[in-house]
Formats: sequence, C-alpha cells, structure tokens
Amino acid sequence: PYPNLAPRPPMGWNNWSYYSCNINEKVILDNARALVRTGLAAKGYDTVTVDDCWMAKQRGPRGELVPDTTKFPHGMAYIGQELHRLGLKFGIYEDVGTLTCGKYPGSYGHFKEDARLFAQWGVDYLKADGCNVPRPAGRTKEQIYRDVYEQQSRALLDVGRPITFSVSAPAYFQYDGDAVWHRVIDWSARLGNLWRGGRDIALEQQSPATKWSSIVYNFRYNAGLAALQRPGRWNDPDFLLAGDSGLNRHEMQSQMSLWAMMAAPLISSTNLAGLSPEAREVLGNQEIIAVDQDPLGEQGKVVEQNDGYTVMSRRLGNGDRAVALFNAGDAPRTLSTTAAAAGLPDAPSYWLHNLVTGHGRHSGGTIAARDVPPHGTVLYRVTARAGGQDAAAGA
Ligand code: GLA
Ligand code: GLA
Repeated sequence: PYPNLAPRPPMGWNNWSYYSCNINEKVILDNARALVRTGLAAKGYDTVTVDDCWMAKQRGPRGELVPDTTKFPHGMAYIGQELHRLGLKFGIYEDVGTLTCGKYPGSYGHFKEDARLFAQWGVDYLKADGCNVPRPAGRTKEQIYRDVYEQQSRALLDVGRPITFSVSAPAYFQYDGDAVWHRVIDWSARLGNLWRGGRDIALEQQSPATKWSSIVYNFRYNAGLAALQRPGRWNDPDFLLAGDSGLNRHEMQSQMSLWAMMAAPLISSTNLAGLSPEAREVLGNQEIIAVDQDPLGEQGKVVEQNDGYTVMSRRLGNGDRAVALFNAGDAPRTLSTTAAAAGLPDAPSYWLHNLVTGHGRHSGGTIAARDVPPHGTVLYRVTARAGGQDAAAGA
C-alpha cells in the first residue's frame, strides 16, 4: 500500500468552494497568512491546497506543466517556499485524465514528469481528480480508473518526496452501484491516504439552503461508508463551509461536529481574512478537533437514524465515546440514546462533557439533549465512571 503519510485525518484549507477558479498568488498567500494569524494553523490546519485553474491552458515546449503567469507571476515553487516559510504544507490539484474538470492540462500520459515537477516545487499533498479519463473500448470503467490511479500513485512514490495522496476515483463511481463503488474505495485506500467518495459540497455563490442540504447529503452518504475506513485511510466528504457562507451558527457547528465524528479531513474552504468570530470558534474548537484527530482513527457509526435526526457514536483512544445527537429537522427536538446503545461499558454512572458549551454533568445511562435547535448537533464526550453519582460529582 501507499505509505501511511496521514496517520490522522488531514487538516487545512482549499480555495475551491469559496473562490472556484478565481484564484491567484495573493488569494492563496493571504489565506495562508490568515490561517496562521487566526491560530488555526497551530491547531492543526496546516495544508494549503491550490485547487483547479492554476495552470496555463497548454503545456510548455518540453511538455511540462506551466502555471498561469497572470495568476501566479512568481510561479508555483515560490508558493511552496512561502507556505513552507509560514510553517505550512503545500497542496496542489491535478487530474488523472487528459484535462482537469476545469479543462486545464491533465496528467494522463505525463504522470512521472508531473510528479517530479511537483516534488521540485515542494508539493506535500496532491489532490488527483478524475475528470476526462479516456475510455478505450474493451476495458471496464473500473479497470481504466484503477490503471490511471495506480500510475499516479507509483509516480508519487518514485519521486522520493512524501506527498500525501488524495484520490478522487470513488466520486466517479458513486452512482454506479454500491458493489463497484465500495470496491473502488477499497483500492483507493491502498493507492492513497484519503479519497473523495461523493458529491461536491456546495459553492459559495449557492444559497445557504443549498449549502445546508449539501452538507446533510454528504454527511449521510459518508456515514454509510464507515466500514470502509481504517486508521490512516480516510473517507473525505469534502470541505467545511464555516465562514461567511450564510450558514447559521448551529449549521456550522453541526458540520464541524459530524465531520469530527466521521474522522473526516478538516479542510476549510472560505475567505479566512473575513472569518467571523463565530466561525473561528467553530473551526478552532480544540476538543472537537481532538475527537476528529483521535489516535484510534476509527470513524464513528450511526446508532439510530431517520429523516429527522441521527445519533452517532465514536470509539475514542482513551476508552471514552463521542456521541453526537443531530437534529436534521426544522423544529427544536429532544434527542436521546443510552450508554449501552452508544457502545459504552456498563457502569454505575457516566460523565457527559458537552464539547461545544464546555459544561459537564453526570447521568445514570441516558445520553440526552433537550430541545436541540433545528439543524443543530449536541456533541458529548462520554466517560464511564466507576463510582456512583457522588464519586463522579466529587471528581
Ligand atoms: C471537481 C472536484 C472539486 C474541484 C473541481 C475543480 O468537481 O470534486 O472539488 O476540485 O473539480 O474543477
Ligand atoms: C462531478 C463532481 C465530481 C464527480 C463527478 C462524477 O464532476 O464534481 O466530484 O463526482 O461529477 O461524475
């Protein structure tokens, strides 16, 4: 398998959802500096990825990829240098087809030379999309994709620089039936470190309602892929939208909490220079980040779900469980589960620590939250206590 370069889910920032193709050196470096200034970099958001549209429309005279010099007048090695100087890692987007999704030159037929160039530029992370993959007759779509992603994976290995590899193949099989979709995830997990499984999260210009429904959609399909994840091999349900996205505080908080429950990569896509104090608090919640980055590396599982709500539980390295009570509906709702259903050991009492409010209380075995707001999530870290309530209260 590809080396385990991401023992914890990757964290960072990517321009795509907020800026789409409207990028340049200033946008990327301003956001990188904001990542440091806001303290988010120190909390683990350390990889800045330049998404599609950074290239010129044609390769250079020797077949090499060339950046768009209007957008990136100092070239991409300079971006790498500046990011490294800030203590950040450099991520870049390419595609395993003939053209990227935005119709810039893809790496098909150029895997080795492109990988060498990325290494020269100081690239630490590659997102390899799967648009415009040629489909010769006589081979299945799966064989074709597997072959090009194997070539990409091997090319990265051969350059000798550790480059975290984000594979987009599964997203191209999401509508082809679960059997093939799951098989593609299985080989993607051997060729890279993380993979996009499904639909793109909504873009900045879309309405807050569309953004919210895309979060719920990506949450639901990705929660269903828990059995295919393993430590160091991550399902990626796409970007965190907290920022000036029009989402309310509960919605931003829910996405952050649910992504942490799923051990998802935490990749912000917003204008970090304009980050509201609220959004900064959501993205910077260290106890929730700690759930996401938990050393056990195990994606949480759905305990109970219907259209209106989801209860999830995630096993953590110190024996605790993270339990999320998510109200998907449009009215406040009291949600509850039990310690046993959440997979906790039998104990005389449990300590429920609310990771958003910071408040704690003990409970005999019911894990409940009263009047969870519409689109809100209550996230607890639950600890089984050996003593009864008195012992817990005294602790
Ligand atoms: C695909 C990916 C997006 C983004 C665009 C760029 O749609 O899923 O995340 O990289 O391509 O064109
Ligand atoms: C769109 C999405 C990609 C991928 C493909 C699949 O382009 O942006 O992420 O899901 O569809 O066809």
